[in-house]
Amino acid sequence: MANIDLDKMLEKVKSSQWLLADIDWDAPGAEMISDEQRPKLTRFMSDLVWIEHVGARGFAAMAKNAPDDTLRQLYTYFHAEEQRHANAELALMRRWGMLEEGDIPVPNNSIRLSIEWLDRYADDLPYHVLGSVIPALEVALDGALCKFLLDEVSDPVCHDVFARINDDESRHLGVGFTVMEMQGHDKTLLDLVEMITPAVDLRVVLGLVVYWPLLNKMRDNVVAMGLPEEKLFGAMKKFEKIGGRTAAGRRNPFFRVISAHMKTVMDRDQLFYHVPVDLMVRLTDRIPRRLLPAVPSWVKELTAEPYA
Ligand SMILES: [Fe+2]
Ligand SMILES: [Fe+2]
Repeated sequence: MANIDLDKMLEKVKSSQWLLADIDWDAPGAEMISDEQRPKLTRFMSDLVWIEHVGARGFAAMAKNAPDDTLRQLYTYFHAEEQRHANAELALMRRWGMLEEGDIPVPNNSIRLSIEWLDRYADDLPYHVLGSVIPALEVALDGALCKFLLDEVSDPVCHDVFARINDDESRHLGVGFTVMEMQGHDKTLLDLVEMITPAVDLRVVLGLVVYWPLLNKMRDNVVAMGLPEEKLFGAMKKFEKIGGRTAAGRRNPFFRVISAHMKTVMDRDQLFYHVPVDLMVRLTDRIPRRLLPAVPSWVKELTAEPYA
């Protein structure tokens, strides 16, 4: 994945586009979902659909702030791909009888707040911050959760859908990590300080208040799905492994901060972190829905119709 050529990557992305219509949604296999699995899987899929939207919104902001045209185009494609993932997952939910016609699953409060935060602030965030946070979220959530699902579900249509989604994800990660390395390249200490300074403001603090509980919440959800949390932690470790494989990557201050944080997330013995953050998860869960702001209008682009 190291030092990929972004122009070639753009060509690859263009030629790898797929449609929901490419999938035979009525093929046999839907009956392989057991009644026992159904409630857990419904919750897991609902979260997954919304995580895709977190990714989509993040890429929209990246496209807006991209430093050159190739990256702008890549992020624009990735934005559309994340929306396609959400739509494909909705179509799977409908196939499995988890959604009525026209229904949209409800996001958990943590995801809901993350979307709200992204919607308000992501466009104004320094590109460097997004450039490191997005690969972290992609590795830990977007990419990882999809893979877990395949261990639990045998429906061949699900495997067909996720083969395509995972292919897209590997390109998102390839670009994400390359950009992170580019941002650590040839930087003097002064440059690094300049990268960090605009990141320190209230929006970012608010972002942490949303981001920390989101990770713990998703960990709890993975456990609720009957999966060992080590699986999620295994995915998180990839962030450090891939992001830190070159000196330039390791020099990126955001990479360092995020991987140090990931280590804390993975270590339940770090009570100074987990006690307050788990409390934040419980408080977030308790926020009554009426107190949460309305879902942003772009969410209406959610559809399980196979033309998307
Ligand atoms: Fe995705
Ligand atoms: Fe992604």
